[in-house]
Amino acid sequence: MQKKIDKINKRLSSLFLEENKPHKILYDAINYSLNSKAKRLRPLLTCLICEAYSFDLDIAIDAAIAIELIHTYSLIHDDLPSMDDDDIRRGKLTLHKKYSEWLAILSGDALLTYSFELISNIENLSDNKKIKLINTLSKYSGKDHLIAGQVVDIQSENKKIDFETLKFMHINKTSSLFICSSLFGAILSNASKKDSEILKNFACNLGLAFQIKDDILDIESTKEELGKDIKSDQKKNKSTAVSILGIDKAKKLKDDLLNQILSDLNFLSIDTTSLKEYLNFFF
Ligand code: IPE
Ligand code: IPE
Ligand code: MG
Ligand code: MG
Ligand code: MG
Repeated sequence: MQKKIDKINKRLSSLFLEENKPHKILYDAINYSLNSKAKRLRPLLTCLICEAYSFDLDIAIDAAIAIELIHTYSLIHDDLPSMDDDDIRRGKLTLHKKYSEWLAILSGDALLTYSFELISNIENLSDNKKIKLINTLSKYSGKDHLIAGQVVDIQSENKKIDFETLKFMHINKTSSLFICSSLFGAILSNASKKDSEILKNFACNLGLAFQIKDDILDIESTKEELGKDIKSDQKKNKSTAVSILGIDKAKKLKDDLLNQILSDLNFLSIDTTSLKEYLNFFF
């Protein structure tokens, strides 16, 4: 697991290296956010699935990290004053606090667009697969998925939403990129239709469980442990799994989802030992 995280980190730190450009500050800002203490859960998931199907990780790596670029952009924008207005991310000042709001917005824009360029440049991968990857990434990071979830999140501040709306919000703002990670593994490895469906469903529940856990940690963890501000949701009167369900029900739902996910993995045609390890370790 750690070897794959190291490979992901190494490739991420090699992407934005221009020294003598007039816009060097953009590269500095991007590297500040990108090369920091992050768990790399999304690219790691793609790599673990590719490995289980014996697909070459040297080809998969840029597809995997394209998702991390989108994830990092979404966090930079999520922290902006007009969104969650947070000061700490990945153990240090948020990008707009360290630099400026305009540079944080533009760094996010650059990460978002570069993710597609990166996939289109992958060597030894068919155009057909590249198009499928780009189609999947643009769909799940776009208007009806990640962005839709973020819209409902902000819209739901200071009001009581029902459980269905909470689920819509969590699945879209958070499951979307996990679904991408799973589908990337399936696309690259030529997984069967049946396996692809199982992997998609697995990632949807995984993202939901992960966001419920994030909502719980916002209350129960510490700034040092999380590397971000705590009680941020309360401060903004967010609708979260905890505010809607209460802490006990939220914990039970998270545990039930994780048990469901673990048993669903048994229907895949591949060896799922490393996926189970990933779940036990991070969730
Ligand atoms: C944070 O994601 C945003 C949520 C969806 C809760 P992570 O907890 O994966 O953040 P990093 O990438 O490790 O910083
Ligand atoms: C973040 O959700 C989801 C996305 C960035 C798409 P949160 O707002 O709960 O994430 P944190 O708690 O700031 O990491
Ligand atoms: Mg948010
Ligand atoms: Mg936030
Ligand atoms: Mg949160």
